[in-house]
Amino acid sequence: MPITRWNTDLSVGVEKLDTDHQQLIATMNTVFDALLQGNSASTARKALLTLQEYVNDHFLREEKWMLKNAYVELDRHKQEHDALRQHVARLLELPQHSDDQLAVEMLVVLRDWLLGHIARSDRAAAH
Ligand SMILES: [Fe+2]
Ligand SMILES: [Fe+2]
Repeated sequence: MPITRWNTDLSVGVEKLDTDHQQLIATMNTVFDALLQGNSASTARKALLTLQEYVNDHFLREEKWMLKNAYVELDRHKQEHDALRQHVARLLELPQHSDDQLAVEMLVVLRDWLLGHIARSDRAAAH
């Protein structure tokens, strides 16, 4: 069961960034599924590490793209990225056998935050 889906409302009009966002959402769904299965903490952790890697790669790619385009709000945008990076790091800090419900709740917050970031901040930068 996907936690969310990419849709055209999230398009920033730059193909490589849209592809990144689609991949991010797919990775988030993988984490969600792993957490819901609940019987394999290491599967969930592996999925989370993949998400962290992808988040970091994407943010760096996006920041580079913004720098190249001399985006004036880059510093503020980077702060949002940092907050999102910290949220992912906090998810990874949860003890392996902690309550999965907490991890699911944190993932839902991350989803809402990330979708809001794409819909508002990424779109503002690209349009
Ligand atoms: Fe983005
Ligand atoms: Fe961004």
